[in-house]
Amino acid sequence: MPDTYLQLVNSGPTATLAKRLGLPRPAVLRRYTPGAPLVEGPVLVLGRGDDADALARLLSGPAGGAAPGAGVEMRPTAGEVPTLLDGWDLEVHRHAAPDARYGAVVLVLTTVERPDQLTEPVLAAAGPIKGLRSGGRVVTVSRAATADDAPAVAAARQGVDGLLRSLAKELRGGSTGNGVVLTGEVPVTAPSAVASLRFFLSRRSAFVDGQLLAVDSTAGTLPADWERPLDGRVAVVTGAARGIGAAIARTLARDGAHVVAVDVPAAGEQLTAVANEVRGTALQLDVTAADAGERILEHVRARHGRLDVMVHNAGITRDKLLVNMTPDRWSSVLAVNLESQLRINEALLTSGDFTDEPRIVATASTSGIAGNRGQTNYATSKAGVIGMVRATAPLLVPFGGTANAVAPGFIETEMTARIPALTRQVARRLNSLQQGGLPQDVAEAVAFLASPAAGGIVGRTLRVCGQNLVGR
Ligand code: NAI
Repeated sequence: MPDTYLQLVNSGPTATLAKRLGLPRPAVLRRYTPGAPLVEGPVLVLGRGDDADALARLLSGPAGGAAPGAGVEMRPTAGEVPTLLDGWDLEVHRHAAPDARYGAVVLVLTTVERPDQLTEPVLAAAGPIKGLRSGGRVVTVSRAATADDAPAVAAARQGVDGLLRSLAKELRGGSTGNGVVLTGEVPVTAPSAVASLRFFLSRRSAFVDGQLLAVDSTAGTLPADWERPLDGRVAVVTGAARGIGAAIARTLARDGAHVVAVDVPAAGEQLTAVANEVRGTALQLDVTAADAGERILEHVRARHGRLDVMVHNAGITRDKLLVNMTPDRWSSVLAVNLESQLRINEALLTSGDFTDEPRIVATASTSGIAGNRGQTNYATSKAGVIGMVRATAPLLVPFGGTANAVAPGFIETEMTARIPALTRQVARRLNSLQQGGLPQDVAEAVAFLASPAAGGIVGRTLRVCGQNLVGR
């Protein structure tokens, strides 16, 4: 169901009218296409200390350098820049140039140990953020607060959380604000820290806003080619015949994966079309079948010889208030959305065939975080997914593996097209970007978490919701 309002306020005479009337005008988001520049415009890296210096050097890459008058020129020093970061090639400034219009501002706050130490870097960001280009990015890089920290340290670190979430709500023009949060002693140059920063800077995260993603370890491998981070990997995607699942299949294939598209036999025709389009294979399978995991393993062994990525995307809604809930509505939602995933994971984990930096990526929902009237069954299943990945990830760590979830907000699919028109209009606007996301937006986050570079993100849930106003 197209978002007609978004189209009207962004084209021709209706755009002018909307402007005159002062109506909210959500921006058309710039989404990733292969070859798109990582950031349009220079990048300002603010913050003191070795981490800020290291990131500025890494971002500028071998061809990087500062614009005239922009302050310190960031060129790599021989032997300091890992070759894996070659090619970022961004124009990096360490001090704001008065007339520069930045494509991104990276605020490195890892050394902050007292609340007053936030003042200088945060206020230094204000002017550059005012001049941020449309579709720009603000990314904080900070350290996680823990109960072991001195109170002032924890206060300063936790303060970044409120800063980032509020700042993201203030950005306009399709710009987003997100944060990379390093846990423990994880260095700023850890593969997953670097990859998370790149994801947040890029158009791949167009509908991810106001999120803080924790990096838990130094595990993970950066790709030889950032345009094909899944080269040679074999990925299974459930619910792939349409909607978000079909977008995931396309996106993983675009990023280099061989894709096995799974869906129920009744969706066989659409499933074959998707599998053919991505040059993958189709497997007709109800994920609730007792032997679903074994059948997936048989298929990948026979057709692809290996399995690297399992994407649990198949899901259903059977909404009713709890007082009207039937046993069938309750059980079917839990069976498809959660129990099938547990059973398939169990089969993969015990098979001995899922051991080369394996990735599980499951689809949760903001309903599982904030709750939603009429969705006790659905929200139970989706909150369950969040718990499931948290407990499954450590089981995969010995193999360099991990499990994570994405939690989509309002996404334009057949599922949400069934919502009554007025409710749908309202639901679309209830986020900082004032629009629904597209299946591709969820798919980009799944592809990122499925990539070898994301190995240090352990059991986390990344929201893809445009900073939905409900829930955290
Ligand atoms: P959809 O209804 O358009 O597609 C779901 C696909 O899953 C269908 O192709 C369906 O045939 C398949 N499927 C259902 N039961 C199955 C089973 N037992 N075995 C195998 N395949 C099965 O849904 P959509 O919107 O693409 O959602 C995909 C996932 O994203 C779901 O898990 C959903 O809960 C989740 N989600 C969607 C949101 C949205 O706004 N559309 C928001 C939050 C989460």
